[in-house]
Amino acid sequence: MTINLSSRARNASPSATLAIAAIAKQMKAEGIDVVDFGLGEPDFETPAHVKEAAIAAIRDGFTRYTAAAGIDELKQAITTKLKRDNGLSYRPAEVIVSCGSKHSLFNIAEVLFESGDEVIVPAPYWVTYTEQIRLVDARPVIVQTREEDGFHLTREALEPAITPKTKAILLNSPCNPTGAMVPLEQLRAIAALAVERDLLVISDEAYESLTYDGHAHTSIASLGEEIKSRTILVNSVSKAYAMTGWRIGYAAGPAEIIKAMGTIQSQVTSNPTSIAQKAAVAAILGPHDDLRAMVIEFDRRRKYLIDRLHAIPGITCTNPEGAFYLFPNVSSFYGAVANGRPIRNSAEMATYLLQTARVVLVPGSEFGSDAHLRLSYATPIESISKGVERIERALDVLRR
Ligand SMILES: Cc1ncc(COP(=O)(O)O)c(C=O)c1O
Repeated sequence: MTINLSSRARNASPSATLAIAAIAKQMKAEGIDVVDFGLGEPDFETPAHVKEAAIAAIRDGFTRYTAAAGIDELKQAITTKLKRDNGLSYRPAEVIVSCGSKHSLFNIAEVLFESGDEVIVPAPYWVTYTEQIRLVDARPVIVQTREEDGFHLTREALEPAITPKTKAILLNSPCNPTGAMVPLEQLRAIAALAVERDLLVISDEAYESLTYDGHAHTSIASLGEEIKSRTILVNSVSKAYAMTGWRIGYAAGPAEIIKAMGTIQSQVTSNPTSIAQKAAVAAILGPHDDLRAMVIEFDRRRKYLIDRLHAIPGITCTNPEGAFYLFPNVSSFYGAVANGRPIRNSAEMATYLLQTARVVLVPGSEFGSDAHLRLSYATPIESISKGVERIERALDVLRR
């Protein structure tokens, strides 16, 4: 029979970062010594007390359906966390637990956006935002941040992009892929803008715990009641507690929006995994020593990698304040020819580095910036050292 996929399915792009991870995995399985800078997840173990909580949940038979929007115990833990870390008061009815924050974000898109709506997405951006917005027939409107400004988002950059169709602004601080954080005075200015222009704000705070050089995360929702009432805060246990595989994320915001998200979720996935929810309670309320140790190690790698990249002629790279990515500009090499093939863009550069240097990086084009490549330092420092040497040699060839 002829299968006619919907236009939605035909137009959707698969997650490029997951696709690159799959290629790297395949090369490793074939015995090829690949250095993987493509990872979007901490290379640390989930803390032992979190694993124990999940094992106890299984032993206790906590293995059935739960409330679709998450167990009360976890919603309470999340409200405690939002108060403790962000100074925010939410009621459990203003919180929903989803199968990862990616799922929360899609629920938000489903309940808020439709054909004709515009959503402002600052670039470079995590590619899922634009894809999810398109999946619900709305239009992402891209606002560029600039490398010269440390990729810092400003009110001035956002303002001209607002039209009568604009429904929301999407914020991601610290940002994947740049690691940039929105400076506090700009966060205040953006909050004022959202209030003045009657816009919603979706604040993806997945990397809030991974900040360096004394930079501390502030949630835009904490800047006053007016902005809180129009913000949907999204967060996750994935990055902070090295729990990417457990699939627990959450959103907090106006009860009306959260309730609608719960309705959609109840028809699509039902509850996030019961066992993972118990583990998330332990992660959020338990000791944070593993997180602190992880941040120290990420910081060590960040400094090491940035120094090594700065030493390569032709590369520029901002010093990121958070997350676990660097976003070097490699465009000065575009126009070179390697192995008989031209390197004209970030995809061709990533392919060249993969094939020649056996180093996995993600092309910046996936994040709305073709001059750049994304390197994740969620990989041991020995691999980082080996990988940078390979990059150095491969780029040196292009300079000749
Ligand atoms: C900016 C950002 N937000 C959200 C997520 C989703 O994380 P999860 O669905 O595991 O909570 C990711 C994952 O890479 C991310 O980079």
